[in-house]
Amino acid sequence: MELPSPATSHWDDDPDLGSVVVDEQGIRRRVRELADEVTEDYGDRPPLLVGVLKGAFVFMSDLARAVRLPVEVDMMAVASYGSAATTSGVVRILKDLDTDLTDRHVLVVEDIVDSGLTLSYLRRNLMARRPASLEVCALLVKDGRQRAPLDLRYVGFRIPGDFVVGYGLDIAERYRNVPDVRVYQGPVAVG
Ligand code: IMP
Repeated sequence: MELPSPATSHWDDDPDLGSVVVDEQGIRRRVRELADEVTEDYGDRPPLLVGVLKGAFVFMSDLARAVRLPVEVDMMAVASYGSAATTSGVVRILKDLDTDLTDRHVLVVEDIVDSGLTLSYLRRNLMARRPASLEVCALLVKDGRQRAPLDLRYVGFRIPGDFVVGYGLDIAERYRNVPDVRVYQGPVAVG
């Protein structure tokens, strides 16, 4: 039995959290649609899903379970140099993949694309490993923030440029467990 989502959440009382950008039901519906597209597109060549930690762990978990193919899952952890709320485009790999990508159909699962610098770096890095194909599935894309087109095969939602948290996304490691995506309006640490 599916438990009904509460109309209000205790997160509503947190003064650092602003409006809900994507609600739980919207996420659920869209993840199912994306998974259906992936299922149809990949058919007889099940992809290797590559999640980008930490932010993508919630999305990856939901997406992987909704895809009706025998996918494999691997994770890599990256950190971009820069302050808490901006990225510099210089990316450090904190945990690399366990899987050899040679001749694999790779689908990168990303939580959010802002400037696109992290993703450009990742794409270059992963392409050098000679996969058979490489596509990207991003849950959230901030509108008008990318300097160059990014060739994203699957996009969940295009959202405004505000800093958001929830559904895996954090500010200084907090709020990853918020079940929807909300604007963060609290203090931002500099440095
Ligand atoms: P980009 O390189 O500017 O596209 O930034 C991408 C990375 O920055 C994401 O993978 C996130 O880790 C982080 N990021 C960008 N915008 C947000 C946000 O609004 N909330 C939380 N993390 C974000």
